[in-house]
Amino acid sequence: MNLQKELILPCEAKLQNRIAKSAMSENMSPKHHSPTKSLIHAYKRWADGGSGLILTGNIMIDQKAIAEPGNILVEDKSHFEMLQKWADVVKDTDSHLWAQINHPGRQAIGIINKEVVAPSAIRTNVKGMSGLFKQPKALTESEISDIVERFGNTAAILKEAGFTGVQIHGAHGYLVSQFLSPLVNQRKDQWGGSLENRARFVIEVYRNIRKKVGKDFPIGIKINSADFQRGGFTEEESMKVVQLLDAEGIDLIEISGGTYERPTMTGASQKKSTKEREAYFLDYVKKVRKLLKTPLMLTGGFRTVATMERAIAEGEVDVVGIARPFTLYPNLPNQIFQGKITYLDTPPPKTGIKLLDKSGFVDIKWHEIQIHRLGEGKNPNPKLAAYSVIGHNLMTTIKKLVFSLPILKQSNK
Ligand SMILES: Cc1cc2nc3c(=O)[nH]c(=O)nc-3n(C[C@H](O)[C@H](O)[C@H](O)COP(=O)(O)O)c2cc1C
Repeated sequence: MNLQKELILPCEAKLQNRIAKSAMSENMSPKHHSPTKSLIHAYKRWADGGSGLILTGNIMIDQKAIAEPGNILVEDKSHFEMLQKWADVVKDTDSHLWAQINHPGRQAIGIINKEVVAPSAIRTNVKGMSGLFKQPKALTESEISDIVERFGNTAAILKEAGFTGVQIHGAHGYLVSQFLSPLVNQRKDQWGGSLENRARFVIEVYRNIRKKVGKDFPIGIKINSADFQRGGFTEEESMKVVQLLDAEGIDLIEISGGTYERPTMTGASQKKSTKEREAYFLDYVKKVRKLLKTPLMLTGGFRTVATMERAIAEGEVDVVGIARPFTLYPNLPNQIFQGKITYLDTPPPKTGIKLLDKSGFVDIKWHEIQIHRLGEGKNPNPKLAAYSVIGHNLMTTIKKLVFSLPILKQSNK
């Protein structure tokens, strides 16, 4: 199978095959933002599944900027032993385990952060959920330099802990993607305005990480093909930015799309025709492919083995990224290679409440519950009712919020 072919990255690291588990925020670490035993157990199940590459859910780089209450935070070596145990899950396998590192900028839950920052003071506006997000403060130049340094420091700690690569989260409306967006980045200094200026942040982040992890360590990025918002980061701009990253020597570019305001990454808020088609961002990939030498990964909507095989065979992509199906089929690469499955059956959970279903919230939280089940040693439950997300989420969110409140964090130390 084409999916079983190995891939050598620019840094000369080798992926054993072309299937990657894409990042999924696990939200399993309410107390100290440290990896937990059940989180590691979920990754053990994925590590036994035969993927070429496993990406972690987004890991925060700054305790002042936590996207969701149960995120992992790596800004120093506080949880180093648990990070080592986490990285160890791939030790006796040929899979890579890369840590996705992220700063959420303005897309962080307001109540758990004292202050929220962004390139410019423009608030996240998600229909029906705007109360979740605070008015952000525009970053100063010295705060920007601090965040650039943090990306590099976090990457270096993760490398030392045994992760075999890192991925910059440059997609989905978080800080890197906010800098790229002319809607959110209205700065007048060297970090805003022209595309060259808006791309300065991601380039500086990449360079800082490279300086700290060395030339042999894989660095990837997940980036939007577009934000799909009027006045936002466009397909043409995205193509120029990936060319800049290509020239820098990045090892793998994963293509996605959308933001919380326009959640196209999971197919929500997409045109019916796009949703029904596999591989939502394939048209973009076909266009950008010719402009790059960096290996390309595409994530979003892959469900049939035939489409995955064709994408690799025709050279459209080098790596097939899969997220939600991994929660229901934890060992899907092995099942595919053994010819046991040809289709990943993942019907989207629906409550029937239009606003909720369109927001993508139920879909994300339903899959998050399946990850928690994997961590608890249970089997996934494809029949789980979409409504149970609301009850489950209410309980766990209350628990996580309580632990995340700044006052409790102080008294826990
Ligand atoms: C529960 C859940 C959590 C996610 N968390 C992240 C994340 O932390 N980082 C990220 O880049 N994408 C995240 N995503 C998006 C996925 O990586 C992927 O882009 C999206 O689900 C589309 O791929 P799929 O159709 O194969 O699921 C998440 C998706 C889900 C369902």
